[in-house]
Amino acid sequence: MKDVHIEGDRMDSMTNNDKAAGFIATSNHGFGAQAMEEIRRLFEQVKLTAIVPAEIFRFDAEGISKREATLLLTEREPVFVRHVQPVDVQVAIDRTESDLHRLQETVKSSFNLPEGAKVAVQTRKLDGVEYAYTPFACKEAIDEAIVRNFRAEPVVKGADLIISVFLTAELALIGLSAPADNLSDWSGGAVRFQREEGQISRAKFKLLEAEMRFGLDFRSYRNALDIGAAPGGWTSLLLERGCHVTAVDPARLDPGLLQHPKLTFLQKNAGDVRFRDGAFDLLVCDMSWSPRQMTTLVGDLLYAVQPGGTCIITVKLMHKKAFQTMREVVGDLSPQLELQKAKQLFHNREELTMFFIKARS
Ligand SMILES: C[S@@+](CC[C@H](N)C(=O)[O-])C[C@H]1O[C@@H](n2cnc3c(N)ncnc32)[C@H](O)[C@@H]1O
Repeated sequence: MKDVHIEGDRMDSMTNNDKAAGFIATSNHGFGAQAMEEIRRLFEQVKLTAIVPAEIFRFDAEGISKREATLLLTEREPVFVRHVQPVDVQVAIDRTESDLHRLQETVKSSFNLPEGAKVAVQTRKLDGVEYAYTPFACKEAIDEAIVRNFRAEPVVKGADLIISVFLTAELALIGLSAPADNLSDWSGGAVRFQREEGQISRAKFKLLEAEMRFGLDFRSYRNALDIGAAPGGWTSLLLERGCHVTAVDPARLDPGLLQHPKLTFLQKNAGDVRFRDGAFDLLVCDMSWSPRQMTTLVGDLLYAVQPGGTCIITVKLMHKKAFQTMREVVGDLSPQLELQKAKQLFHNREELTMFFIKARS
């Protein structure tokens, strides 16, 4: 199978869309206002239309091409937009079986897919609206069309291209993009990890998602400090990755972890522990505390992180003052910690996750 590498020019020619910059953006439920605010700040002229209140909206940026808009979105990635899909074409639907044929014809006439390209079709629909077909039937119909018309290869993961279909009550909004351009290659940015037998906490998914989102590989770290570690979901992931973990929490860790040869457990308040300078190359902190108390505690422990070390920190969003909270956290931890990326992860609730590097000087 040949490799299909897609440059911006090529994407324009595959969609016949080098002008309209229309997108659908998705945030975690309740953070749509923050996501809209970020989009407003990113584009000079933009029209925003809610699709699902407080969660999904359409935006149409004016005076900018799809490609330029995509560059802006990926280079200055918004914190609260977990997923975007372009809208290259829209077609009226009536929610009957005949929509499937309409979708096949629209894909055939609107896109020009390279032969052999691995294409994932991701379909979403509005909750509470009746359609005569499932999103999966819709995906299957489009899969059939891309094989028949372009000899492309339908895939679920590892795609070169994603065809996104969002069904409203009256329209199918369809876009073609490279996976990285959607900010997440999961449909709607909804990252679904498999729950494992005996998994200690759902919190583990947060750290797994952070590893993926921030492009980290915890196998490359040796000594991790986990502050606010109980019951031990994050600690268990870091142990699985082969790190030595020092877990700090006044609460108990899951008994299944305690015998692990690479675990040191300090059943203490993080304000009462002391380490060697530069003892850790990774610090993670998932304390459900007010951000300012958290930054004081973390700030007091930063001597124990090597210069160039990584810190992954969950920040609770008090009263939804998200942007102010982020500024305060970054200000409190600077200049020791330099922010690399902040993201509200799919697995974050009233919080977001920040990725810092400890300054080298
Ligand atoms: C959301 S839980 C952490 C879940 C954990 N990441 C996991 O994966 O299982 C927050 C933890 O922070 C701990 N915590 C709160 N204040 C703390 C402090 N001052 N020092 C250490 N741990 C603290 C709490 O006891 C609680 O166990």
